[in-house]
Amino acid sequence: MPWPTSRDDELFGYVDDELERQNTTLQLIASENFASPAVLEASGSVLTNKYAEGYPGKRYYGGNVHIDQVEDLARERVKALFGADHANVQPHSGANANMAVYQALLSPGDTVLGLRLDHGGHLTHGSPVNTSGILYNFVSYGVTKSDERIDLDELRDRARKHRPKMIVAGATAYPRIIEPVPLRDIAEEVGAVLMFDAAHIAGLIAGGVHPNPVPYCDIVTFTTHKTLRGPRGGCILSKAEYAAAVDKAVFPGSQGGPLEHHIASKAVAFREAADPSFADYARQIVANASALADALGGHGFRMVSGGTDNHLLLVDLRTFDPDLTGAVAQTVLDRAGITLNKNTVPDDPRSPFVTSGVRIGTPSITTQGMEEPEMAVIAELIARTLSGREDDSVVEAVRGEVAYLCGRFRPYAS
Ligand SMILES: Cc1ncc(COP(=O)(O)O)c(C=O)c1O
Repeated sequence: MPWPTSRDDELFGYVDDELERQNTTLQLIASENFASPAVLEASGSVLTNKYAEGYPGKRYYGGNVHIDQVEDLARERVKALFGADHANVQPHSGANANMAVYQALLSPGDTVLGLRLDHGGHLTHGSPVNTSGILYNFVSYGVTKSDERIDLDELRDRARKHRPKMIVAGATAYPRIIEPVPLRDIAEEVGAVLMFDAAHIAGLIAGGVHPNPVPYCDIVTFTTHKTLRGPRGGCILSKAEYAAAVDKAVFPGSQGGPLEHHIASKAVAFREAADPSFADYARQIVANASALADALGGHGFRMVSGGTDNHLLLVDLRTFDPDLTGAVAQTVLDRAGITLNKNTVPDDPRSPFVTSGVRIGTPSITTQGMEEPEMAVIAELIARTLSGREDDSVVEAVRGEVAYLCGRFRPYAS
């Protein structure tokens, strides 16, 4: 029985609209990027048709000869990229990767140390509304009041006091380098397993601009779709001694059939990230973030921690305008064609739905080829929109300038 031949205009109309949105507006969400045509091709391939429960050489169903080749290639490429003993490329997402690691190495009720959510940690690092916080006893550490960087003294004190089974490093909204060595020393002192969630910075590590946590950590998890510029998905790297437990926790522990089309496009992304040009890309992401931070500072915004070492800035809006909330800024900037997200700043007096800050990332605009001069333009457009937010003509004018800028750096052919 053949497939219907008529085009699904309703659905593909929305896809076309989204392509147009991505091509004509600024994507400043720190966790997003533009995947390459090769990544998109592999994700849209016939590999979506195949059931492959299990692992290469040990599948539940037949017909997996080529699927095994694909998954093996992905595993070998990512192990070589990060220098890891073992890789599991099956997690459907970063959250799944983290939960599988907890399932592999913890028992319900075990104590874990993770970064406070309102200081930049992720939901899967112990939020009370997330399974991590429901199943495990997460104790948090934060950033210092003085320099808004991870408070290693507090982390050490809490580790000594609570004797966690695991320490989780990594963040979703933290603009500074996270050094793995001091974390490894604390974990060793208290006998904890050290897991590094490198979801945001995997591409910066692969590109050699951030320290690689793999040699110092028992487990490193990451997403493949942020700075690494691959398809939406997760990955777990581990020391050899944890390989069997991790694999078992992913399948059959928490997932069913792996998404082999996405595993194929992860393999494509790992190859792209190993290309020497990726190091230039990673360097430019950081240079752009730094230039954007300087330019926004010139317009009166305060950068949390005074600046950035990575792909993101946490902008405290209160020095620009004490009445301006992150929620209002997100909405008006969206109307101007500038997409970013509201974000709490450390010790934010406002709720996570309102916030006093926004998070801004440079991975997407760097993929488009924008450099330092464009960062000054973007900072000016942001400042102009926010000061003129009550005036529709200001917002409309900015939207036109954004479209012009994006037209010069179009990510995709339409
Ligand atoms: C640090 C961190 N870990 C995990 C995740 C979860 O990734 P996913 O959205 O793919 O589940 C994110 C997503 O933003 C993240 O920032």
